[in-house]
Amino acid sequence: MIIEYIIPRLDFSAAGKASTDMKHRLTQLGLPPALIKRVAIAMYEAEMNIAIHGDGGRAEIEISKDGITTCFIDHGPGIPDIELAMQEGYSTASEEIRDMGFGAGMGLPNMKKNADELIIQSELNKGTTVQMHFRLPAGEP
Ligand SMILES: Nc1ncnc2c1ncn2[C@@H]1O[C@H](COP(=O)(O)OP(=O)(O)OP(=O)(O)O)[C@@H](O)[C@H]1O
Ligand SMILES: [Mg+2]
Repeated sequence: MIIEYIIPRLDFSAAGKASTDMKHRLTQLGLPPALIKRVAIAMYEAEMNIAIHGDGGRAEIEISKDGITTCFIDHGPGIPDIELAMQEGYSTASEEIRDMGFGAGMGLPNMKKNADELIIQSELNKGTTVQMHFRLPAGEP
């Protein structure tokens, strides 16, 4: 099953839609609450990054017997130094964005912590792709 979400640029009323919808779907599938929580937290950070830093984009989520794979794709400015961006507290968010409560520089570290795998690919002025994988516990469908 593949599910796609469009993530608009800087639309804070739509913020968190993909992660919220996925949380409901995974709950309906009867997956363990701890896993659902990790997916929802990591997806929320990824979709906010696309909305705030990536000029908008999309998410593709695949649910299979191997687990949950999420792919976040944008065609924004790209990340010049991924290693630096991964550091806790590093943020290029504007004053205005910080006033809205974002820009702590904790999104990417949070994604790393919650996903079983995190792969970031980025090209300057071309865009960014963030892929995360979450394994299903043994015995789940
Ligand atoms: N999709 C993206 N496109 C371009 N730059 C990005 C993207 N995602 C992250 N970045 C860069 O990486 C930095 C760190 O991202 P991270 O999510 O850790 O922190 P933040 O978004 O600035 O703050 P927080 O997530 O805590 O609100 C961002 O400030 C931005 O410079
Ligand atoms: Mg962020």
